[in-house]
Amino acid sequence: MTGRLDGKIALITGVGGGMGTVAARRFCAEGARVVGCDIDVESAAAAEKQLRSEGHEITVMGGVDLGDPESARAWVDDAVTTYDGIDVLYNNASTQRFAPIEELSIEAWDFTMRNELDLVFYTVKAAWPHLKAYGGGSIINVGSIAALRGVEFMAQNAHSTAKGGVIALTLQLVVEGGPHGIRANVISPGMTETPNTAPLLADPPERMKQVVLDRIPLGRHGQAEDVVNAAVFLASDESSWISGTNIVIDGGASVLG
Ligand SMILES: NC(=O)c1ccc[n+]([C@@H]2O[C@H](COP(=O)([O-])OP(=O)(O)OC[C@H]3O[C@@H](n4cnc5c(N)ncnc54)[C@H](O)[C@@H]3O)[C@@H](O)[C@H]2O)c1
Repeated sequence: MTGRLDGKIALITGVGGGMGTVAARRFCAEGARVVGCDIDVESAAAAEKQLRSEGHEITVMGGVDLGDPESARAWVDDAVTTYDGIDVLYNNASTQRFAPIEELSIEAWDFTMRNELDLVFYTVKAAWPHLKAYGGGSIINVGSIAALRGVEFMAQNAHSTAKGGVIALTLQLVVEGGPHGIRANVISPGMTETPNTAPLLADPPERMKQVVLDRIPLGRHGQAEDVVNAAVFLASDESSWISGTNIVIDGGASVLG
């Protein structure tokens, strides 16, 4: 590793999950001190134990429901106190419900907004005064190519809308954050292999093969590392004049009509 994040203090959400664990490991390896969280107690503890056993300096708080504004604020405040600072807020956590429009319940819609969009607003709102106080920083929000185009193999009404909201919110953060040295960017993954998606990718339905997997110009689905590579760049000073971009990480798939 090249120390691209030496001296950075990074807050990463959803560290118990597929991309979150990979992100935390890579950020640590690049020299960052990481404070993570997850709503899931067991996966948070497992990630912390695993990463510490690999020699990384990391704290992962479990049982943090970022869809609750007070929990989000408490985690952010604690995390900033842990290392007395904040340079990066990486909003990776999310959970969603999928269903066609006629079957998507109001509860499923609300659940998705809470756990994909509201939680980003809550963490950013809590981190904002700290980011200002410590002289700025980098906000990295995880979007999705589902926000950029229709998805044929699985109905994604609420998910696409929530991720579209994440992208729109980010644009406004750029404007309000600029004078304080706060940058905000989005990374939008396409179909990426994680423990959740691995079974689907191992035995994909025919429709998914036709409309997604066989139509990726670079010829393969993504790995968590593909996504995290972009996050490292956006967290580092290499991107210090980049704010408001949406890096699409999908093997070129979303350019196809
Ligand atoms: N895997 C893909 O193909 C793909 C594609 C596009 C976008 N994404 C996005 O990438 C990000 C990571 O995806 P992943 O595949 O690693 O997902 P994942 O489900 O493996 O991990 C997400 C983590 O977030 C946590 N989380 C969910 N709601 C939370 C809450 N309210 N408070 C705190 N933690 C909460 C979960 O417990 C989980 O550990 C997500 O934002 C996802 O929408 C993934």
